[in-house]
Amino acid sequence: MLVLGIESSCDETALALVDDSGVKASVISSQADIHALFGGVVPELASREHARLIGPLLDSLLAQADLGPEPWSKIDRIAVTRGPGLMGSLLVGVAFAKALSLAHGIPLIGVDHLHGHLLAAGLENDIQWPALGVLISGGHTHLYRMDSPTQMTVLGKTIDDAAGEACDKFAKMAGLPYPGGALLDALGQRGKADSHLFPRPYTQNDNLDFSFSGLKTAGALWLSQHPEAHFPAGETPARERLELAPQLLCDAAASYLLAVAETLSIKARRAMRSFKPHSLIVAGGVAANSVVRREFTKLAEEKRIPLLVPRLSLCGDNAVMIARAGWHMAQAGRVHDLSLSAIPRGQTIPEDWQVST
Ligand code: KG4
Ligand code: ZN
Repeated sequence: MLVLGIESSCDETALALVDDSGVKASVISSQADIHALFGGVVPELASREHARLIGPLLDSLLAQADLGPEPWSKIDRIAVTRGPGLMGSLLVGVAFAKALSLAHGIPLIGVDHLHGHLLAAGLENDIQWPALGVLISGGHTHLYRMDSPTQMTVLGKTIDDAAGEACDKFAKMAGLPYPGGALLDALGQRGKADSHLFPRPYTQNDNLDFSFSGLKTAGALWLSQHPEAHFPAGETPARERLELAPQLLCDAAASYLLAVAETLSIKARRAMRSFKPHSLIVAGGVAANSVVRREFTKLAEEKRIPLLVPRLSLCGDNAVMIARAGWHMAQAGRVHDLSLSAIPRGQTIPEDWQVST
């Protein structure tokens, strides 16, 4: 079965073709440089860019896949991210998917973006069920009990900021451009962590939720007290002059990332008390972080279960993961009709599919 995946929930426009054996073709265009000028994603600009890019990207995808003279006759399902995300951005992808579905008579499947992130881990590894899923991105921090590719239960989530947001804000306050998570990682690798410098917020309780706003405040306070630790302003892109970062900032970055990583692993370890997972999945943009990876490697070794992390290019937003999640839904017989709605951040994705026999 060949599935076309479409992703436009935030600032990446992406399309991919995935079949039973894996990725057939994939294209992606990031708007990060545009939003960097404003220090964060500007929703109106994001949707305009998606609308401008999605058609040409489809042409490139089909050229890359080389499906012959009648490519649409080879595609079995069209899977699209329906949420959570920025409403205007989601609507571009959903409307585009509906138009293709209608024009070519191909069944439509609406995908939960967060399920996509987690299932990306199954592209190159066999997931052993049940799995504990840790989804850490710019907008979300969720713990999942995953019983199968189509049965996932949220065990806990952030009550305020996401892990990625906490990284991006600290980076921004330190003078680094948006999104600063990866740059902070690069600086932290040159620093020495002090595990007492920043708190492990919201861990002195017995629930599985997260709260990163206190860590953000602690980071802001520390940076305001240490102006000499800020990254120097300059004309050339920050990523080309990271060696100019003060050692104090590198050390603080290492400490801050350790606080983020340990906060995540404390709650993940706690989740393992409520059920015994056979594998541990860590996915989403922040899964690219070296300290987070190290922390979860330790946890998986301690519990003697495999740690599955999608490869770097599949950690951030992409359409391969959406096509893969759609492929799983198709295997379970799930389809949507043209009334498929986009679901903004904060709202539950409804289980409104139909089951085809
Ligand atoms: O999953 P993703 O691409 O988009 C969302 O759905 O949010 O995640 C983006 C987030 C951003 O906050 C970005 O700074 C963060 O992932 N990120 C990192 C690293 N690479 C990306 N954070 C820390 N360390 C990294 N290496
Ligand atoms: Zn994402």
